[in-house]
Amino acid sequence: MKCATFKNSILITSLLVMAACTSSKPPLEYIGPNMVKGPSLKAQRADCYMFKDSNDPHCIRGPRMPVEGTIPTNFEPYPYPNDAEAAGRLLKNPLRPTKAILERGQILFDTYCAVCHGNTGDGNGYIVPKFPQPPTLASDKVTNWTDGRIFHVITMGQNLMPSYASQVTADERWAIINYVRVLQRAAHPSAADLKAVGK
Ligand code: HEC
Repeated sequence: MKCATFKNSILITSLLVMAACTSSKPPLEYIGPNMVKGPSLKAQRADCYMFKDSNDPHCIRGPRMPVEGTIPTNFEPYPYPNDAEAAGRLLKNPLRPTKAILERGQILFDTYCAVCHGNTGDGNGYIVPKFPQPPTLASDKVTNWTDGRIFHVITMGQNLMPSYASQVTADERWAIINYVRVLQRAAHPSAADLKAVGK
């Protein structure tokens, strides 16, 4: 046998051996299939694979809906959703109007409220008149309201004004209210206030 022919026959034999290795039988699985082929869900994406909620037309989101009544850690549900009067009477502002708190309140007011209420609270925000003009925050009515009563408006909204509960935390609301008191005082300064600022 010539050398080349010998090499060829080795090649043919090895190819035959390799061909014999393919099998139509499913391969053996040594690890439980659930571990190997674990179903995966994309977070926040609707998926019909793992959970099926019959009342959801898009099947299901990856994360499960929280059980009814679930609240986040450190979250206190608002106790007076339908009782502005009780909120005004029972809620107390836990924040002292220190310089730091007032400065924080100013930043928050200018961020969340000024768009409608204006930087001075007079109701001339830059969205007005595309959005109906809100009343001044320096009215006798709001000036005489307790902090809790104003807290209620920010938390629940009032007529055209939407709730800001999801944008500003409770502490931020109290800081804003302290700053609203500054705006009220600036709108109706006493003689002593004017003298203090040299006017
Ligand atoms: C989208 C515009 C808008 C924003 C933003 C907004 N408000 Fe208002 N607000 C209004 C309107 C309009 C009214 C008047 C509602 C009504 O007719 O009772 C109002 C009413 C109020 C009142 C009651 C005034 C009264 O005389 O009854 C208070 C207090 C108040 N807002 C505070 C705030 C504070 C504080 C913020 C920021 C956290 C804020 N608002 C953000 C539009 C807004």
